[in-house]
Amino acid sequence: MNKKNLRLSTSMCNVNPFRVMMVMDRAAELEAAGKKVVHMEVGEPDFSSAFPIINAAKQALEEGRTQYTSASGISELRESISCHYADKYRLKVDPSRIFITPGASGGLILLANMLVSPNDGILTTDPAYPCVRNLIQMSSAEPQLIPVEMDQNFQPNVKQIQNHKRENTTGIWLASPNNPTGTIIERDRLIEIARWARDENLNFVVDEIYHGLKYVNDLPSVLEIDARAFVVSSFSKYFGMTGWRLGWIVVPEEYIPMANTLAQNLFISAPSIAQHAALACFTAEAEEIFEERRLEFARRKNFLSNELRNLGFKIPTSIQGALYIYADISNFSQNSELFCRDLLNQNQVAITPGADFGEYKAEKFVRFAFTTSMADIELGLERLKMAL
Ligand SMILES: Cc1ncc(COP(=O)(O)O)c(C=O)c1O
Repeated sequence: MNKKNLRLSTSMCNVNPFRVMMVMDRAAELEAAGKKVVHMEVGEPDFSSAFPIINAAKQALEEGRTQYTSASGISELRESISCHYADKYRLKVDPSRIFITPGASGGLILLANMLVSPNDGILTTDPAYPCVRNLIQMSSAEPQLIPVEMDQNFQPNVKQIQNHKRENTTGIWLASPNNPTGTIIERDRLIEIARWARDENLNFVVDEIYHGLKYVNDLPSVLEIDARAFVVSSFSKYFGMTGWRLGWIVVPEEYIPMANTLAQNLFISAPSIAQHAALACFTAEAEEIFEERRLEFARRKNFLSNELRNLGFKIPTSIQGALYIYADISNFSQNSELFCRDLLNQNQVAITPGADFGEYKAEKFVRFAFTTSMADIELGLERLKMAL
């Protein structure tokens, strides 16, 4: 049935499906027909969860820890995350400011409900992770998109942000490292943006879900710079727990009661077994596994980015974090959706068109995810060469 014939909320009408899901569906059809598809479309690590996590989950199941937890999450996990900030960032984050959520997605939903009112304007980049823009629209607010270029590392500067601010602007939501670009907001820039947001009295939200997956030395958390900022994070990517649906947010102290009320109403609690399992993420043996995996991602990233450059794709000089390379295909095509469709149908290589991440120059860009083995990346590149 046509969407128009259904009784839908007005906010629903503005929300688009992920194109990457359609790519995945088509890839599955090809596989069902016996073809070998190279998957470079998927935004999740190709490793299954590390064994200390699995063992902790088994133990939690055996102990019958299957009930709701407190809305903010189990205190041991909030304390472990607080220690994580102390260890990795030399930061003191009181556990009471940390809320465990069903994925970063749950955290984004909570923050949208807490911070965004109808007709507000929220500044964010184009390209960016599409859910943010969609969530803003679901709150009947206006995403105020800042187009960002490759030569500025796909991250905005204060002057640009200022130019896009309107009377109704109440917040700025950024991601570092960003999906789909794999680029970060460097420390000086982050300081400037945080200062500006504070002066303008805007809520500053930074999505830091790719933080463990960094390929540069200095990747600052906004919490090092501004205790008034909001952070979204996750166990999905660096910790390799996508399907467990577990993330967290950090809120300024005065927002604790509101975040608690919203967590109770939106999801009661994050999954209990997942929370107990995630405690194992902060053990030495799990950390060793995560670091090995990060190095493997770095190896793939270096190889893939060199090869793509040699083939004539334009890509950022440095992929600083996350799992992605956002590549300009204008040497080959002016229509990235068609480019991706043909590459999948004719050469069985799955990548994601830029249109999933925004509108700005989207037809010139595609996202490669290095979330598959080196052997498959090599095969994908061979097929790509043939296609070009
Ligand atoms: C930038 C960004 N934020 C949030 C999410 C949602 O992650 P989660 O699995 O923790 O809900 C994703 C998922 O890919 C993402 O790329």
